[in-house]
Amino acid sequence: MTSLSVFGAQWGDEGKGKVIDRLAADYDYIVRYQGGANAGHTVVVGDQTYALHLIPSGILHPGKHNVVAGGVALDPITFLAEVEGLRKRGIAVDHTNLHLSSNAHVIFEHHKRIDALAEVWKGAGRIGTTGRGIGPCYGDKAARIGLRVGDLLDPERCKTRLRAVLAEKNALIEKVHGEQPLDLDEQIQRYHELADRLRPFVCDTGALLRHAHLAGKRILFEGAQGLMLDIDHGTYPFVTSSNTGPGGIPSGTGFPPVWLSESLGIAKAYCTRVGEGPFPTEQDNELGELLRRVGHEFGTTTGRPRRAGWFDALAVRYALAVSGSTSWVMTKLDVLSGLDELQVGVAYRVGTERYEEYPAHLADLGQVEVEYRSFPGWKQDITGARSMGDLPPEARAYIQALGELVEVPVSLVSVGPERSAMLPCQS
Ligand code: IMP
Repeated sequence: MTSLSVFGAQWGDEGKGKVIDRLAADYDYIVRYQGGANAGHTVVVGDQTYALHLIPSGILHPGKHNVVAGGVALDPITFLAEVEGLRKRGIAVDHTNLHLSSNAHVIFEHHKRIDALAEVWKGAGRIGTTGRGIGPCYGDKAARIGLRVGDLLDPERCKTRLRAVLAEKNALIEKVHGEQPLDLDEQIQRYHELADRLRPFVCDTGALLRHAHLAGKRILFEGAQGLMLDIDHGTYPFVTSSNTGPGGIPSGTGFPPVWLSESLGIAKAYCTRVGEGPFPTEQDNELGELLRRVGHEFGTTTGRPRRAGWFDALAVRYALAVSGSTSWVMTKLDVLSGLDELQVGVAYRVGTERYEEYPAHLADLGQVEVEYRSFPGWKQDITGARSMGDLPPEARAYIQALGELVEVPVSLVSVGPERSAMLPCQS
């Protein structure tokens, strides 16, 4: 296997950072292909915790190539702050291990402003975005008025294009939202300075990856968010603005789809979601509160409390099917320790209709009733387990059952934040 795509099979926050960190040791290139600083990947190495937003988790492994590809919506401020933050903690970051695509669309101040203002404008219909300017930036990309990293590096081109774009954005900010417009000269000056600091990292990452593949290098694609937040396959409109699954790789990188060898989904042993939108197995009660507390379910990027609930077998089976995964990683199984009984969503009901397959055609999933299957829980702490044999039989049975319900076997189970807390498994 020369390339592997790792992606979230729920609504994000599945613990991808930790899995990618573990796998990165076996790969030469680690690539972000979509999303932006809305993502937050937490990686624990020894007594150090790293929260990465834009830079691939492979940066924590010396000698790896980390690529931020053209499909990413790049906030230069966050990117450079992350570079500096890593350097301060003794991690070497330069053009030899971090490569930024000249095709990545740039998130400007006006994108973040408009993201926040649009949410207020939508009122009860808001999406609950991370406020990182993701939707407005991808919107401009599709409308063909966006600026890319390559444009930023050419001062005259940047000035001309930013002037044209900002005139319209300022009209929106001022006339529709009644807020202060942004100062054009200040913005131009600010982004010129940032461009100079980005310059050393910028290259044609598509060519870089194709050459690497032809030279027999191993490439790991790191998905951000989750398949259920995919703009095409997720719970639209309560989604992010990119293709979060492996489908986003070819367009987001210039890596030919026929070269993609395998994809690995990541899902928690339960489920969470941040922001608005349907979440059929949500437990808006004491159990949800318990999962949130024990699982530290607060956003890495925004600190927002995550909504929590039971594992939804329909959603995960759908996500694994859409992405063609042949195995998946179950994370945070330890969070369920101590519960008498576990539940798993196995079917939805809407009126007289019963669905065992995820009903992707339904316009509103908010109204479904969930049919659950119960499993016995276990009492002991399992964070010290280092092989499947160390787990109580109830936990092993739960893993086996979830693999069967989603029709894709579990290959690894994570029982704690450390690198070593990952148990290989043949379910
Ligand atoms: P946006 O990506 O900031 O536009 O937010 C759109 C939706 O995706 C909101 O519900 C966010 O909470 C959610 N979202 C975006 N990024 C992440 C993530 O990394 N983890 C979980 N949810 C996310």
